[in-house]
This record gives sequence, C-alpha cells and structure tokens, in this order.
Amino acid sequence: MKTFMLLGFLCIIFIGELGFCLHKGLGPIKLFETEQTQTFSIQCTHAQLTDAGKTAIVNAHNKLRSTLAQGKYNISGDIRRAATNMKMIGWNDDLAIKAYRSIYQCPSNIARPNPAETGCNIRVVDAVGTQVADDYAKEAVAFWEKQFQDKGWPVNNTITTDLASQGLAEATQMAFSLTGAMGCGVQKCGSKVATVCYYKYPLVNNNKVYEMGTTCSRCPDFHVCNQPTGLCAYQQVGK
Ligand SMILES: *[C@@H]1O[C@H](CO)[C@@H](O)[C@H](O)[C@H]1NC(C)=O
Ligand SMILES: *[C@@H]1O[C@H](CO)[C@@H](O)[C@H](O)[C@H]1NC(C)=O
Repeated sequence: MKTFMLLGFLCIIFIGELGFCLHKGLGPIKLFETEQTQTFSIQCTHAQLTDAGKTAIVNAHNKLRSTLAQGKYNISGDIRRAATNMKMIGWNDDLAIKAYRSIYQCPSNIARPNPAETGCNIRVVDAVGTQVADDYAKEAVAFWEKQFQDKGWPVNNTITTDLASQGLAEATQMAFSLTGAMGCGVQKCGSKVATVCYYKYPLVNNNKVYEMGTTCSRCPDFHVCNQPTGLCAYQQVGK
C-alpha cells in the first residue's frame, strides 16, 4: 500500500481490487504517468460520480420536490397538495464520501448509518458492461421515485416504520421536506453494482412528509423561497 498526498486530495491506493479516493479539496486530480496511478485513476473514476452525474441526481430530487411543492405531483390522478416548507436539496461531499465508504470494500451486507442521524437509500443491481457510475446512480434515483407512482403516497402523509415494508421508504426519503443535503457513492463489486445515497435529515417517525398549504409559506429558518421552483433554498446569514 502506498499513500500519496496530491494537490488537495488524500488518496490511498490499495493494490488489487480495492480503490479508494477521498475528495478533500477543489480542482482536478493530477496524476503521474505510472502504471500504479493509472490503476488508481480508473478506480477513482469508477467510484466517483462526475459533476454532471451529481447534478443529475440532485436535479432529479429537486424536480420531484418542486413538483410536490407547487401542488402538481400526480399519482394516477391523486394530485398532491402544495408544500409550505419543501427544502431545495444540495450536494454534500462529506455525505458522498461516507456513502462511498460504506461500499468501497464490497461488503456482503451494506452497513447503514445511524438512522437517527443520517438517511440512507441503497440500490444493488447487476452490472451492465456499458454503464458508468453516473448511469447506475441516475437509474437508482428514478427507481426510488417510482415507488410513489407504483404504491401511492404514504398514509396520512406521515412517516412511519411501516414505510420500508410498504416499499416507500426510499421515495419518501427523496421527498421529505426537511432533507436539505445529500451525497452518493457507487461501487462495482464483481457482477453487482451498489449505489448508496446518504441524506442529511433522515426520515423522522410521526413527522409529516411535508406540510400542506401555500407553496413556500413556511420556509424553515435561514431558507428563502425560490419562486421558480417553489422550494425553500438555504440562505447564508449575513449575505
Ligand atoms: C394525472 O394522471 C392521470 C393518469 O394517471 C391523468 O389521467 C390525469 O389527467 C392527470 N392529471 C393532471 C392534472 O395532469
Ligand atoms: C390517519 O389519521 C387519522 C386521523 O388522525 C387516524 O385516525 C388514522 O388512524 C390514521 N391512519 C393511519 C393508517 O395511521
């Protein structure tokens, strides 16, 4: 095992199947032209989503959330009422790193984070030769959202421990109004590929999925209404 410190990145190379790369700064990865670093580069490319991939994942979440916030989400004719307090979701690299850490060693069972602290959606599928990490993650997000279309909205618009057995836990995590940040990792393990997304603000039992009422009328503290989307966007104090 060799350790390299590279321009804002901490990278640990495991020779063999395991690749592991922690994004710790800004700017592109600069690699030396050696066999070892090429291996490293391939593994990191596979393990980490591209910026376009991250944007697509976040946008898919915010599209669902915006449609809900504006009272336009349609489940087979059941048009959901608008949301007063739906946060806009942003990408968080720390969550992405933690999500990736849960799968980079290809465990037989993927450990979940403390459910009181961090939400977690997991999808494992068969590997498809032509697909890259972005493809798997985008497919996972679309699969999760489809739970609402297939199974309907959570009873009483309320988060309960039954959501998992009803096959609604992942979609509900995508839609939970108080969730404001997320990050995902993707790892190929043999013939399987795992996508794991972590969410800041996990599902909280007995909470409403969102508060119904006038769009944006009750944005949480430090959030302001983004009119085009009807989402409550985080606003830094003093700006
Ligand atoms: C909602 O979806 C149903 C089909 O599932 C469709 O018939 C209906 O027109 C849609 N309503 C709106 C307002 O889009
Ligand atoms: C939904 O809410 C109503 C009114 O609060 C309650 O009586 C009912 O038991 C709830 N249904 C479920 C399935 O929790």
